[in-house]
Order: sequence, then C-alpha cells, then structure tokens
Amino acid sequence: MTTADFIRGLPKAELHLHIEGSLEPELMFELGKRNGIALPFKSVEDVRAAYAFSNLQDFLDIYYQGAGVLITEDDFKDLALAYFRRVAADGCKHVELFFDPQTHTDRGVPFRVVIEGLLAGMKEAETSLGVTSSLILCYLRHLDEDAAFATLKDAEPYLDRIMGVGLDSSEVGHPPSKFARVFKASRERGLKLVAHAGEEGPPAYVWEALDLLGVDRIDHGNRALEDAALVKRLVAEGMTLTVCPLSNLKLCVVHDLKAHPLKKMLGLGLKATLNSDDPAYFGGYLGANWTQTSDALGLTKDELVTLAKNSFTGSFLPPQTIARHLADIDAYVAKGS
Ligand code: HPA
Ligand code: ZN
Repeated sequence: MTTADFIRGLPKAELHLHIEGSLEPELMFELGKRNGIALPFKSVEDVRAAYAFSNLQDFLDIYYQGAGVLITEDDFKDLALAYFRRVAADGCKHVELFFDPQTHTDRGVPFRVVIEGLLAGMKEAETSLGVTSSLILCYLRHLDEDAAFATLKDAEPYLDRIMGVGLDSSEVGHPPSKFARVFKASRERGLKLVAHAGEEGPPAYVWEALDLLGVDRIDHGNRALEDAALVKRLVAEGMTLTVCPLSNLKLCVVHDLKAHPLKKMLGLGLKATLNSDDPAYFGGYLGANWTQTSDALGLTKDELVTLAKNSFTGSFLPPQTIARHLADIDAYVAKGS
C-alpha cells in the first residue's frame, strides 16, 4: 500500500477549515452569475493566477472579495456540500468548520441566511456522505469587540446548533486581549473557545489566548516554538494545535514544506493536528495536506496514526464518539499491517 493510500483510508477529522475558504473559482463564477455579481476577473484561470500571496493580509483581501458572491441560503448550502464531497473522498469523517458571519452581515446578508444554508449542507453531508460536522463561529479580529458582541447576539437563536466561537482574520495588531469580554460571554453561553494565534503573531498572543481567553484549542500556534516555556505549558496541558502546512507555505509562514515544524512539534510532545485552512486558496484539501506534508517531512506510520488520533481527541465530539473513531483507527491499522 502506498503512503497516499494508507492516508486516504485512515479515519481522520478536520478541525481548522474556513468554509468561505473552500470557495473554488468555478463555484465563485457560477454564484456570481446566479446572483448578478460581477467579479474583477475574466476567467477561472485569472482568479487562480491572483492566488500568489506574500502574507496573511494579501490572502484575506482576496478571500473577503470572493465571499461577496454568497447571497442566498442555497449558495451557502452548495458551498458546504462541495467541500464535504471533497473531504469525504479524502477519508475525513468529521469536520469542525469555521464560518465568518460578519463577512456576510456587513454586506446585508442576514445571519439567518448564512447559518440556515450551512446547517442544511451539513445535514445533507451527514446523511449522504457519512461525514459529521459542527459549527464554530469566528469573530473577525480586525473589527472591534462591540461588533463581535452584536454577532453573538445574532447567534442567540442558534446557540444549540453552534459548537463554539473562534477568532480569525488579521492577527498582528489585534491581540486576543481585545476580545477577552466577548470570549467570556461566549463561554458563559456554553460555547467552546478557540483562537488563531501564533500564525503571524508573536508567542505573546498564544499566551494571551490561553490566559485571557481560556481557549480549548489553538489554531496554528507555529510561533509558540519560539518560546520554550510556552511549549512546556502547551505540552503539559495537552493543548491541541490545529496546524495547516499548505496554508503556512502559501502565506509564507514557512518557505519550504521540508522546513515545516509539524514533525518537530510531534517530537516535542505537542498535540498537533493536520488541517487545510482555506483549501480553495492554498492548493489542497485535507488529503493533499496529509500526503504532501508526509512526503516532505518523512512522517512515519506511527506519526500519521498519532495525527489521526489527535484529530479526534482534539475534537469537541462526545467521549463515546471519540472512542469509536479511535477504535476504527486501530482496526484500520491492524488490518493493514
Ligand atoms: N488566518 C486568519 N484568518 C483567516 C484565515 C487564516 O489562515 N483564513 C481565513 N481567515
Ligand atoms: Zn485559519
């Protein structure tokens, strides 16, 4: 069995996926046409050619522009279903997906339209593809905390269908401390908490996410490696890091996949997971992240199995469901060896 085949069959979860970042140029054009929204690109090739980023902000500018074609419930449902079909083929069994309501409500698309469309796509993915999922609402950190509170208010009628909240968008200059009150309010409503930290921002932002926000997971966390005391803390707490190698490459967080710190993270005892972030923009879905990273770093079978297990033990699934996925992984490995 090739490594790619082994990876495809290995049960795994995706814990760091922005659903708006799964908008492929083909669907972008289709939805633009459907909704009468002109795009500043002539063709799908033109769009792809624009995906050369030097940093996070370069990407975010084009990502928010692309999301402008999403208008109706069906648009959000189609977007979600297109993503689920891709990851189901990669052997993904469960997804905890981010969505950015403010990107849409600021354009006049109601919160209800966004979430109802996504929930419809998630439901259909579970029935037709066998992939389970839950939603993580992300606050945009370049906006102020009052705007985040308004979004939490929009979410009130849907709190039983939202697993948690996260923090994304432009990191540097927008530390986690800016959102301490809205994270506290989110926690009080029973929501899980995650935050992007240490993608471009310094280790101090990871400390803040832990100490001031009280997060349950860190998204990215690469720059934690610059601070030995922080690594020690993350290892001691068994804190899950949702690492995204192809994203890191595309946004110049690393300059070569061979220099990616994932293997080093595992060696240090950090609970790393492998994820795609914004697969339509960064050159690959979950499977491509796994195979390309495995090839570049020479990940061992044991390391691959650890990553698969981390993706479930780091998830917000109930303990019995996690145990069932772990047993499936063990059965798969036993059968193959
Ligand atoms: N980082 C921060 N914000 C984001 C990202 C990311 O990689 N993708 C979508 N929003
Ligand atoms: Zn992200």
